[in-house]
Amino acid sequence: MIIGAVKEKKKFENRVSISPDDVKNYVKAGHQVYIEKGAGSLSGFNDKSYKESGASLSTSKEVFKNSDIILKINCPTPDESKLIKNNSMVISQISIQNNQDSIKILNSKKISAFALELVPRITRAQDMDILSSQANLAGYHAVIDAAQEFNRVLPLFMTAAGKVTPANVLVIGAGVAGLQAIATAKRLGAIVFATDVRIASKEQVESLGGKFVMVEDEESKNAETKGGYAKEMSAEYQKKQEALLAETLKTMDIVICTAQIPGRKAPLILKKEMLENMQNGSVIVDLAVESGGNCEFSQVGKVVSKNGLKIVGHANVPGRVANNASSLFSKNISNFLKLMNFEDKKKSMINKSDEIIKATMICSAGKILIK
Ligand code: NAI
Repeated sequence: MIIGAVKEKKKFENRVSISPDDVKNYVKAGHQVYIEKGAGSLSGFNDKSYKESGASLSTSKEVFKNSDIILKINCPTPDESKLIKNNSMVISQISIQNNQDSIKILNSKKISAFALELVPRITRAQDMDILSSQANLAGYHAVIDAAQEFNRVLPLFMTAAGKVTPANVLVIGAGVAGLQAIATAKRLGAIVFATDVRIASKEQVESLGGKFVMVEDEESKNAETKGGYAKEMSAEYQKKQEALLAETLKTMDIVICTAQIPGRKAPLILKKEMLENMQNGSVIVDLAVESGGNCEFSQVGKVVSKNGLKIVGHANVPGRVANNASSLFSKNISNFLKLMNFEDKKKSMINKSDEIIKATMICSAGKILIK
């Protein structure tokens, strides 16, 4: 098979879908790999490292024309989709609602396209879970970004020359990113608090040394879906949560927002009036900014100063540590590719009855399978 990767076109995107290490593995398994020249430059992978790993360097046009399998970080644009070979395969994040034009083109060319963000969170698929590998890095980097904007230090300093008190950090949303943010802020010596609507996260927060703050009522007992995700909370619950957070925020120096509801706009949690309670110089990092934001003033790709607060809305935070993010993403894809049957030519390459394939294959053989 010919496996190809190109430079990503999306704004704020520094990552690349194949690392030189995985090129080696694909070549060792008998495949050919085509990489667009310069594709890895923003991830710290130069053309030389790809060449030494056994890849052929080429133009994006050639990569699309020749590859049986295109690996990407973001859904191909409509123009890219037009260049991809008929009957080939695309494995990428797709974000179905936002990429209908591309999907139509891919489908018209009988391309099988797989959306990696739909990989089910089952044990067998953990090593393909791009949401987790990237959220983990985002949670780490959110704390680093906060520390950079904060004009104080995070740990307690006790020296003969003076004492500095530790910073209070609140993490909103204790999923993958939130738990890593808690661990990172703890490692930096902060006093860490966290909140979520899922009571199941309490134990995880506490096991990392965080103090759990949450509105516990009848609704919160059922705030988790079967898949482990949060449900959208009622207006009544949100009011109680606002009151609790407004009080908590008064003593917080840094707030890391990570709250998301799959397939929906992120919940707006930090409202204007609540921010008025915060101390001058405090920093808010909104990791949910690209899906609408948890904080009223956050803006995609910007650091906003408002009433003495800094509100950080960096886009694509995993891409800010592009080397690790690309390596992990590439590894997740190569594990996904193990689901394909490359060996037995009599069998179809795609096992359509596999649970992971079924959950991710959005179109194949000219049919749209997931809308
Ligand atoms: P996510 O990115 O969808 O949301 C982040 C966090 O925000 C979640 O903890 C969610 O409960 C919380 N949240 C949502 N609305 C909120 C609100 N109004 N106020 C406060 N917090 C709010 O979640 P993520 O990180 O993708 O994890 C979701 C679930 O999946 C978790 O239960 C996690 O343990 C589970 N998981 C399972 C895996 C597996 O079994 N392979 C792998 C990774 C995660």
